[in-house]
Amino acid sequence: MKKILVINGPNLNMLGKREPEIYGKDSLADIEKYTEEMIEKHGLQADMKWQQSNSEEELISIIHDTFDSDFNGLVINPGAFSHTSIALLDALSMLKIPVIEVHLSNTNRREDFRKTKITAQSSTGVIEGLGKKVYYLAVMSLID
Ligand code: DQA
Repeated sequence: MKKILVINGPNLNMLGKREPEIYGKDSLADIEKYTEEMIEKHGLQADMKWQQSNSEEELISIIHDTFDSDFNGLVINPGAFSHTSIALLDALSMLKIPVIEVHLSNTNRREDFRKTKITAQSSTGVIEGLGKKVYYLAVMSLID
C-alpha cells in the first residue's frame, strides 16, 4: 500500500470558519475524512498521514523528515507560503518522491499576488480550484 503524506500550511487549521465562501464549510478534519472515504469509494487504498502547521520552520522540518522516510508521495497545500517561500521551495526540491501541490480555491482567479506559486515550481503537478476534491484527486494520482 502506498504511503502518502499530506501537509497543510498556515491558516488551514481554520478551515470551516475561515472565509467559507472561498474555502468551503468543511473543517480540515472533515476534509481528511472525506478524502479517505473517496479513496475507498474508488476502490483504492492509501496509508495517509496528515500534518498541519502554521510555522514555516516546522513545515520545512516536516519536509526534511520526509527525505529519508518510506513515504511514496507528498500532497502539500502550502497556503500563503506558496506565494512567498523560497525556503519551502528549496526543501521540496530536495525530495525524490512525487509532490502534488493543491489549493482549494482557484488562485488564478484571485488577487495577482496569489498567481505566483513559488513552491509549485518544484512540484510534479498542481491541482486547484475544485474545493475539497483537490486532496483526493491528488492522492489518487499518486496511488496511480
Ligand atoms: C490556499 C490559497 C492561498 O492563496 C491562501 O493563502 C490559502 C489557501 C487554497 O487552498 O486555496 O491559505 O492555499
